[in-house]
Amino acid sequence: MQNNQVNITSTIVKTFVWSRNIRLFHWLNVLSVLLLIVIGSIIYFGKDLGISTDGKILLKTIHVCVGYVFAANLIFRIILGFIGKGYERWGQTLPFNKAFKQEFADFKKDKNKAFKGHSPLGKLMVGALMLSLSIQMVSGLVIAGTDIYYPPFGQYFAGSIAQDKSQVALIKPYSKENVDADAYTEMRSFRKPFITAHVYSFYFLLLLIPLHILAVFFAERREKHSIVSSMIHGYKYLPKDK
Ligand code: HEM
Repeated sequence: MQNNQVNITSTIVKTFVWSRNIRLFHWLNVLSVLLLIVIGSIIYFGKDLGISTDGKILLKTIHVCVGYVFAANLIFRIILGFIGKGYERWGQTLPFNKAFKQEFADFKKDKNKAFKGHSPLGKLMVGALMLSLSIQMVSGLVIAGTDIYYPPFGQYFAGSIAQDKSQVALIKPYSKENVDADAYTEMRSFRKPFITAHVYSFYFLLLLIPLHILAVFFAERREKHSIVSSMIHGYKYLPKDK
């Protein structure tokens, strides 16, 4: 029994990887995206569920309010990628720098290779997730303006469809009061590609999120560098030569 034991403390080093900013972003993003998926799915199946107009307006209002938290957190992360340090920076996170090709070739040769930050597959996943989340944020903010006339574009869209421009406050979701029918049709056709982007990017996220969780789970089992808990306390347990 004694002979099979390995003194891991001499070969494994506790290495700080994920800053507090990254960990806060990650868990707030998980929480807000989860809520947005649940509320978004209820909106999506609204007709089948027999939800009333008032119910729809309430659901959309809650969805948009959670959306603001999600968007603020995502904008914080995007800025951090440019001004942050170490693994906060986009150069260390996305698969677009010169070193990526070599990293990928090394990874293909040795699947158990330890990476301080993201593995090359991890970088591809982060790139796809960031793209999809950004599409959700931009399209969501536009449709919030065209649907329930919420900021940042709600005032503009309400003004664009008002018959009497001095009474924009009369424009309410799902109401025809003070609405110019032609301007409304034009505004709804402007909104169409944004709704399409919001729904297709939602499908894409429903594919990416389980893939991301499975990839982390299998990487943890194979590499044993504590990548799951590293997103809680910030440390990975890596081979000494890393
Ligand atoms: C990861 C983030 C998000 C996910 C997964 C998500 C998901 C969804 C889904 C599935 C729907 C139903 C689509 C439909 O029935 O046509 C929806 C609708 C909506 N979303 Fe999001 N959303 C996200 C972020 C946002 C953000 C940031 C905002 C704005 C702040 C937003 C605003 C809206 C609005 C206004 C609707 C109602 C559109 C309609 O009239 O059907 N969403 N969302």
